[in-house]
Amino acid sequence: MSGNIPEELISQIKERINIIDVVSDFLPLKKVGVNYKGLCPFHSEKTPSFTVNEEKQIFHCFGCGAGGNAITFLMKAGGMTFPDAVTELAKKAGVSIPKDDWNISSAKNDKRSGLFEVNEAAASFYHRALKDSDKGRGYLEKRGLTEDIVNDYKLGYGGDGWDSLYVFLSKKKASLTMAEELGLIIPKKSGGYYDRFRGRIIFPIFDIHGQVIGFGGRSIDGSEPKYLNSSESALFKKSDSLYGLTVAKKWIKEADEALIVEGYMDLLSLHQAGIKNSVATLGTALTAGHLRLIKRLTENIVTVFDADKAGVKATLRALDLFLTEGVRARVLSMPEGHDPDTFVRETGADRFRKEIKSARPLMEFFINEALKGKNAEEIQGKLKVVDEVLPYIERLPSKIEQGHYLKIVSERIGVNEELLFKEMRKRGGSAPKKFDVKLQKGVNPAVTLTAEKKVIQMAIRYPELMEKVIDSGVLSDFQDERLRLFGEGLFAAPAGVDLVEYFEDEEDRGVYLKLVMEMLETDEPEKELDDCIKSLRLHKLRKDKERLRKEMEEAAKKGDEDLLMELRGRHRQLK
Ligand code: GTP
Ligand code: MN
Repeated sequence: MSGNIPEELISQIKERINIIDVVSDFLPLKKVGVNYKGLCPFHSEKTPSFTVNEEKQIFHCFGCGAGGNAITFLMKAGGMTFPDAVTELAKKAGVSIPKDDWNISSAKNDKRSGLFEVNEAAASFYHRALKDSDKGRGYLEKRGLTEDIVNDYKLGYGGDGWDSLYVFLSKKKASLTMAEELGLIIPKKSGGYYDRFRGRIIFPIFDIHGQVIGFGGRSIDGSEPKYLNSSESALFKKSDSLYGLTVAKKWIKEADEALIVEGYMDLLSLHQAGIKNSVATLGTALTAGHLRLIKRLTENIVTVFDADKAGVKATLRALDLFLTEGVRARVLSMPEGHDPDTFVRETGADRFRKEIKSARPLMEFFINEALKGKNAEEIQGKLKVVDEVLPYIERLPSKIEQGHYLKIVSERIGVNEELLFKEMRKRGGSAPKKFDVKLQKGVNPAVTLTAEKKVIQMAIRYPELMEKVIDSGVLSDFQDERLRLFGEGLFAAPAGVDLVEYFEDEEDRGVYLKLVMEMLETDEPEKELDDCIKSLRLHKLRKDKERLRKEMEEAAKKGDEDLLMELRGRHRQLK
């Protein structure tokens, strides 16, 4: 996004200018409450709905939805490119932009951007080295990757020497400490460094903004380990990174579905075959961090796993995560001996798409796995299956879904559905949590929604209260699903980041802008926040009680004394 202008310089410029001045060059603004208002320059209107907030340095039009920061305003209102807008603002701010700013040594004072530049330089080196290496290109050709893919994903080669990257970085006067920290070079006992990824095919890993956060390297001569990754660093957390996301994000949104595969090669083959709504974990188990990235793009997830034992194990671990996160996923198992890479090559994209369409819900896959190797004709077998599956079915977010799977189990093991349901309740029995946003009697939805909004506004307005909001745990029970998703994104944002840029998703950005513009002044932020949290907890409690009461009524009607006792106990425990 920032082209060649260093991030730190852009922040500097932003700090020194005031969006009120920038906008005032285009239209008159009038102070109304905490905000400034004017007639929107982007659509025709008679009463002002164009709003500017000085504190957060953003604008938003309640009429046409346009919004952003000073840079985006200049781009839109002045018809400028990003670099032009920044240059214009730099003039206003009295900041000079050096001509040769893409110079590694100039960014030393900003650690993060320094690390990024070292990674960027390494990626260019590897990519160049691949072009020069028959061995490297030959390997990728053999694996069927086209030149377009090689270029689009900036694949590389680690070089044949012991220290080609080290020599390159030294010549560029790059920070070797940073290169070491990133796990690109390793210090020798005798002094100097050698390359970590020598002789390997290199897969640069980009973040959602397209910056290089790390690398994967595959050996091509059979040496172990088969794959190596960059070290964990300020830029790279393996468990929070997805390979292919930069390209895939657009396709995932468009298809409203994301495929998750396991390997670099799987991902590249799928993208090459035109199935671009896919991302890959980096050989780690799926984590909540991965899901957070995907959930911002779609709710429909298909996990694609190898048919081997490890694949099945990974799938089942994923089920646990999906249940915790309230995500419904489907699963596609590759046939024996295949992974997505080989399967899509052998059968083609159309067949692969068909398989995806018919992928079954993960819970169904799980039930099938639980039935394997057990004799469901005998009582022992039945009990084992029940032991295994009930705790999972119980965690499903709605009774309808619970009922659906209980029916499947009931048919498979020949045990009455009603009995299974009772057994499930007896064993653990908490009521479904997520998604169950149906409003209950005694809960005033308007009050709750206002409190939810206010909690998030407080977290934005007073960053020092953010921790408190996160710790309170109220977010996960938000009735406003949109706001809940936004809140998850907000909590995950790095401190001090420009939220207008951070929220790439237009809907999220819109939520953000509106929340800021609708903020009210407050004298005692912490106390107000406490009140909101208290009120949300209270509503949740009332809802839980109401739900329990309904269940008790049902149990009483059916004359199920055991269940009734159990529910009474739980009702008492709620306070
Ligand atoms: P190819 O053999 O090149 O087709 O790779 P693959 O992706 O089919 O390999 P596999 O299914 O064995 O592994 C899937 C993913 O796990 C890889 O893409 C890597 O991200 C990761 N992985 C595999 N082997 C290793 C290893 O030895 N070390 C590390 N750190 N990761 C590995
Ligand atoms: Mn493979």
